[in-house]
Amino acid sequence: MKIFFLDQSGTPGGAELCLIDIAKPYSDRSLVGLFIDGPFKNLLQQNHIPVEVLANQPIQVRKESSLLQALGSLKQLIPLIIKVVKIARDYDLIYANTQKALVIGAIASFFARRPLVYHLHDILSKEHFSATNRRIAITLANRFASLVIANSQASQTAFIEAGGHSEITTVVYNGFDQKIYQPCDSDISQLRQNLGLEGKFLVGHFSRLAPWKGQHILITALAKCPPEVTAILVGDALFGEQDYVQQLHQQVAALGLENRVKFLGFRSDIPQLMAACNLVAHTSTSPEPFGRVIVEAMLCGKPVVAAKAGGATELVENGVNGFLVTPGEPQELAQVITSCVLETEKSQVIANNARISASQRFDVTTINQQISQLLGELGIGNGVLFE
Ligand code: UDP
Ligand code: GLC
Repeated sequence: MKIFFLDQSGTPGGAELCLIDIAKPYSDRSLVGLFIDGPFKNLLQQNHIPVEVLANQPIQVRKESSLLQALGSLKQLIPLIIKVVKIARDYDLIYANTQKALVIGAIASFFARRPLVYHLHDILSKEHFSATNRRIAITLANRFASLVIANSQASQTAFIEAGGHSEITTVVYNGFDQKIYQPCDSDISQLRQNLGLEGKFLVGHFSRLAPWKGQHILITALAKCPPEVTAILVGDALFGEQDYVQQLHQQVAALGLENRVKFLGFRSDIPQLMAACNLVAHTSTSPEPFGRVIVEAMLCGKPVVAAKAGGATELVENGVNGFLVTPGEPQELAQVITSCVLETEKSQVIANNARISASQRFDVTTINQQISQLLGELGIGNGVLFE
């Protein structure tokens, strides 16, 4: 099957990293079309996945855009749509991986007479999207998508609650290559030494810097933890959240935590960094659609504490293979961190359970088989859909 994948982003967020795993098995006969240039293109190339940048300026519609703003950008979209329609004619299927990709992909699927699959990586709720953007996504998915793959039950439920047709949806979790999450011990101690973190109880936070990812909650919690607890914040502001970055630095200074918080920026050695941590914290203040970092920490055999909402509650069972805390509650988070400092044996048992359950549930080969089966069921090539 020849697939034309579409993604709006030039930077590798979770949806883009997931797309790499999905596109890889089809790389000899597929193309990823991006709406902007950037490091994601290089990552695709490194993975030998054919990629083409289809637009030369970013699409202006934002998650909070009104109908008028959305309509205003239509003019800018027309050349992109024409390009996508033309390319789509050489492929069997359009696979939209983001919201703007859905908009372009839906229109192109109509003109190119190709089926559309929408991979939904978002919770379509008012916390994350404007009413206009939700309405556009739901209307287009209902009208044009043969299949909506939701990255969690939470994303699927929100889609249906917003008016999406339940019969076109199915849940497929992100898949992970377990080998990557077993770095060797010497790498880890070297990394700890390089970062000057020997002898510390290290809490890692691995997310792009954005208010809803809640790095500020971890910083507040840290001030309530024993002094040996130190945090690394791994990730960068991928979508222009510079004010938030500044606020985080000010917060660290105001709490006198300069020696206990390290900002490491965007990194490509996530498994090694996670393995160097004693605990991984996920602190999103709005429901997380899936939460790749949670599964990655589990695969690294680390205890993880996650905000109890959205997809995170499908990944972690509190007290069994991780910890769940109320989102936006630093006091509760501080208590869990402190108890992990004190009860290392208990948290080690939980971390072992985490590794076992994550490797059973999120194996990339199994997940790719699920996707391949779902795409096969669309009947492409059998004349069912469009001939
Ligand atoms: N990540 C990364 N480098 C960083 C920070 C994060 O490669 O410096 C990766 C992280 O390992 C995870 C992804 O970015 O695979 C983030 O995905 P997640 O689903 O947790 O959140 P998203 O940003 O997609 O909302
Ligand atoms: C999105 C979501 C994140 C999810 C990722 C992969 O970026 O924000 O929660 O893990 O997609 O599905």
